[in-house]
Amino acid sequence: MRIAMIGTGYVGLVSGACLSEFGHTVVCVDKVEEKIAALRAGEIPIYEPGLDEVVAANVAAGRLSFETDIRRAMQGADAVFIAVGTPSRRGDGHADLTYVYSAAEEIAAAIGRYVVVVTKSTVPVGTSREVETIIRRVNPGADFDMASNPEFLREGSAIEDFRRPDRVVVGCDGDRAREVMREVYRPLYLHETPILFTSRESAELIKYAANAFLATKITFINEMADLCEAVGADVQDVARGIGLDGRIGNKFLHAGPGFGGSCFPKDTLALRKTAQDKGAPTRIVEAVVQVNDARKLAMAGKIEKAFGGVKGKTVAILGLTFKPNTDDMRDAPSLVIVPDLQKKGATIRAFDPEGAREAHKLLNIELCKDAYDALDGADGVVILTEWNQFRALDMARVKALLRTPLMVDLRNIYNPAQMAKAGFKYVSVGRATPPAA
Ligand SMILES: NC(=O)c1ccc[n+]([C@@H]2O[C@H](COP(=O)([O-])OP(=O)(O)OC[C@H]3O[C@@H](n4cnc5c(N)ncnc54)[C@H](O)[C@@H]3O)[C@@H](O)[C@H]2O)c1
Repeated sequence: MRIAMIGTGYVGLVSGACLSEFGHTVVCVDKVEEKIAALRAGEIPIYEPGLDEVVAANVAAGRLSFETDIRRAMQGADAVFIAVGTPSRRGDGHADLTYVYSAAEEIAAAIGRYVVVVTKSTVPVGTSREVETIIRRVNPGADFDMASNPEFLREGSAIEDFRRPDRVVVGCDGDRAREVMREVYRPLYLHETPILFTSRESAELIKYAANAFLATKITFINEMADLCEAVGADVQDVARGIGLDGRIGNKFLHAGPGFGGSCFPKDTLALRKTAQDKGAPTRIVEAVVQVNDARKLAMAGKIEKAFGGVKGKTVAILGLTFKPNTDDMRDAPSLVIVPDLQKKGATIRAFDPEGAREAHKLLNIELCKDAYDALDGADGVVILTEWNQFRALDMARVKALLRTPLMVDLRNIYNPAQMAKAGFKYVSVGRATPPAA
């Protein structure tokens, strides 16, 4: 099969590379010329573990190439995927569909033979029909069908998620589009991946419902963590105790500083907006948005309290990205917490293994060369993102570098009793902490 992938970001590049690995011939398109030039030169513009190898292997095999021109990319294509960004529209939280609609116009003008136009971007219910209308308006004679194929990959494990998804969701109307989409994902039949065919509206809503549910789970355990602190319970035990119940499951029950990233914040806002517009408000999702926003600021307050005020103090921050194994800083809790600490008079020394390039654009802080460098002379350390390399710090060295042995661990990666024994004032999320020995 021949596939054109419009938008070569986290989703488009991973999807395009993995579809070429399935054996399809894929052309990834982006309108940012530098991105395409970099990819043609063998450079990967984002950090995603394993992506460089998949891209290099498939470029070498002649199945994967990069283009700035949609028309050239679509020559002979059986399917064209729209994987452009759908950020929050300023003000009302609705998904901004400008990029999707402009991609639709460009695709319309380039349609020659029959093609299936697939929305892979996360888009509100009804968008696939809107894209269809645009294509028919621009190119009334175009021979095409529409499909909605939301993407569920997680940054940080995107390659594995694409190769072995829990399910593939495809919304489409007719047999012709269904057969093309079946062929696109045929290699996954080997793993017996369930392929769920639905209406386009259902497919679009499945994506938002999935993200809203996961965001709700995180927010629920975060509120339980606050309650644990108030009543002297341990949120790790509570999470394990409820997570072992098969009806609940143990995933997404890690208390922390609130969810961030390129999906949950904007997708919960967009779902809330759609639901309000349609007169079917999602009160749970509304509460999730509100509680999660408040939590990020509350975490800055927690840090301030642990430090006994931050005015004139140096706070070492480990981890700035919204989660480990990515360089993505979109809506990361650090973007709220760090400026708030600065506003209260703190100086920040920070280290992130992959996020420094993005963080440099978004935060006015000193970025250090490694974790120990960030700790040097600080009044205490805050763990904001649970990168593996922060999980086994040399505590003797940490203690020697800090002016006071204080750790605020917003990801609960250390053991409170051991930290107390090592002589730290240790503050975590939702866990009782013994005083330092
Ligand atoms: N990032 C994730 O983990 C994830 C997971 C599932 C779904 N999604 C969804 O996938 C979509 C894409 O997300 P992303 O994180 O990959 O975004 P991104 O911002 O990383 O990439 C989007 C790319 O599209 C390009 N683009 C925009 N308009 C274009 C056009 N007309 N022609 C060619 N290229 C164009 C941009 O230059 C950019 O490189 C969003 O709807 C998002 O919600 C993202």
